[in-house]
Amino acid sequence: MSVPFTTAVVTGASRGFGRAIAAALVAAGTHTLGIARDEQELRAVQADLGNAFSPIPGDATDETLAQNVIHEHRPTLLVLNAGATPHMAPVHHQTWETFTRNWQVDTRHVFTWIRAALREPLPPGSVVVTMSSGAALGGSPLSGGYASAKAASRYISTYANDESTRADLDIRFVALFPQLTPQGAGSTGVDGYAAREGVDRDTFIARLQPILTPDQVAKAVMEATRGNAAEYRLTGTGLHQISR
Ligand SMILES: NC(=O)c1ccc[n+]([C@@H]2O[C@H](COP(=O)([O-])OP(=O)(O)OC[C@H]3O[C@@H](n4cnc5c(N)ncnc54)[C@H](OP(=O)(O)O)[C@@H]3O)[C@@H](O)[C@H]2O)c1
Repeated sequence: MSVPFTTAVVTGASRGFGRAIAAALVAAGTHTLGIARDEQELRAVQADLGNAFSPIPGDATDETLAQNVIHEHRPTLLVLNAGATPHMAPVHHQTWETFTRNWQVDTRHVFTWIRAALREPLPPGSVVVTMSSGAALGGSPLSGGYASAKAASRYISTYANDESTRADLDIRFVALFPQLTPQGAGSTGVDGYAAREGVDRDTFIARLQPILTPDQVAKAVMEATRGNAAEYRLTGTGLHQISR
């Protein structure tokens, strides 16, 4: 499968969805710059994928990092996937710090990179994919801060599309809303909701069938970059366009 991107940036590329997305991009011939804080994990990805994957260790919320990477490497695809693991607790058992954890990482990094993408700007024809979550559509009573952080990321992507159109930039902004999975950032969610419902982890996971896998997420990202829609739900059965 080939995509028309010479250089891409994937945030949160060291594991989970981001690693699978980076692997799919490299397989499609795209030089992929992977960002995460843990340098060793990024080096392990490079050992696996080869030199078409360049590790950039750093905090994805860092404005200077975003500006420099965009300015120096001129990527035409950004996949804004980095995210913190949510703190699972009902709203009255959260503190402001735990409730806003995903605002500080997920939303802040989406804001930072999209702002830089519009201000530089990225070359015409570029695409920016934001990894929101199904929680942004349906809410998440045990991680309300997560659901609202992902809803804010959705709006930032929508506003960016408007600004791109107004300034005739020809940059497309796409938001994806994956369903809950038992891996990565979703694992604590599965444990939290299983406990809340009084069932064991395996029973809860059985309800999520068909499970969305990182490889499916990677395939969906590639598909979404070629589509026309601004928003897609992403489940174990594939991409589903959201019309608003
Ligand atoms: N898994 C699910 O069920 C699910 C469902 C819907 C949406 N999502 C969303 O999909 C995305 C990926 O999820 P995942 O399950 O693959 O997560 P994951 O396995 O926990 O991986 C998170 C990635 O983000 C990086 N990261 C975290 N904070 C960062 C920061 N400040 N700067 C740079 N990198 C940072 C991590 O690396 P370092 O820690 O080394 O920085 C890691 O590479 C997240 O945005 C998540 O909210 C996940």
